[in-house]
Amino acid sequence: MKLLTGNSNKNLSKKISKYLKSKLINSSIRKFADGEIYIEINENIRGNSIFIIQSISSPANDNLMELLLCIDALKRSSAKNITAVIPYFGYSRQDRKVVPRTSISAKLVSNLITKAGADRVVTVDLHAGQIQGFFDIPVDNLFATPIFARHIKKNLKRSNFICVAPDVGGTERARALGKILDCGIAIVDKRRPAPGKSQVMNVVGYVKNKTCIIVDDIIDSGGTIINSAKALMEKGAKEVHVYVTHGVLSGEAIKKIGESEIKKLIVTDTIDNQDKIKKASNIEILTISNLMGEAIKRISNSTSVSDLFK
Ligand code: R5P
Repeated sequence: MKLLTGNSNKNLSKKISKYLKSKLINSSIRKFADGEIYIEINENIRGNSIFIIQSISSPANDNLMELLLCIDALKRSSAKNITAVIPYFGYSRQDRKVVPRTSISAKLVSNLITKAGADRVVTVDLHAGQIQGFFDIPVDNLFATPIFARHIKKNLKRSNFICVAPDVGGTERARALGKILDCGIAIVDKRRPAPGKSQVMNVVGYVKNKTCIIVDDIIDSGGTIINSAKALMEKGAKEVHVYVTHGVLSGEAIKKIGESEIKKLIVTDTIDNQDKIKKASNIEILTISNLMGEAIKRISNSTSVSDLFK
């Protein structure tokens, strides 16, 4: 088994490689003067099982293309099998036609990855579990919930918790965390009047005097979470803590979170935003590296991945 990293999140790749005590493959990823990507694998990988680690994070188009070209280079170098380890699966938010005449990017990206030559995909907190079905190869969808639960148990005073889904789509995630923390859930009725804009219509559940723990897969502009936190505080919540797997954090998100009612935002390192986040006083990063490393080890040894979440 060997590991290859793309350029999107080398810090996470290094941590996974340390966990697995396995060096990263010697490779060069360069660009031609016009921006085209050029990949070269600088060591023999014939007959090896290769795990290529690459998030489809910003710049999403470059990182996606880099992933596809890496898979192609591995296939043409006679790798025995190729697993695309995609900590953040970008383009996953368009997973169906919400209005007529739009694309379904999650399906197109799944086709591209399969067609490039991947034999398996490992990812974390897919925006919608059904995206697994867009592939005709095995997909292991890992969850950050146990990492979040450990952090909550260690850092928050255990009193009157309620897990909150910031939209109806996040109900299952809130329920899973609520089950571990042995508390109830609330749901924010969110509407999107236009892409990138969110509006809270109502809060379903009783949050008065409770410590609210919002859990979500993605924080991008921050609108969903900031508006949810505001609505919860208006309904009498004691305080709001937020746990999000993928810290996309575009534009002014970090500044807006600093000025919001959110006591603390926790994200994982599926996206490498360390430099942007380090100045923010109310944002913390938890690493997902050991969980991903362990999943890779289990896939490589043909042992159970789902046992990690029991
Ligand atoms: C939406 O369904 C997702 O789960 C996130 O809630 C959403 O992508 C967050 O976007 P933003 O931070 O821009 O509101």
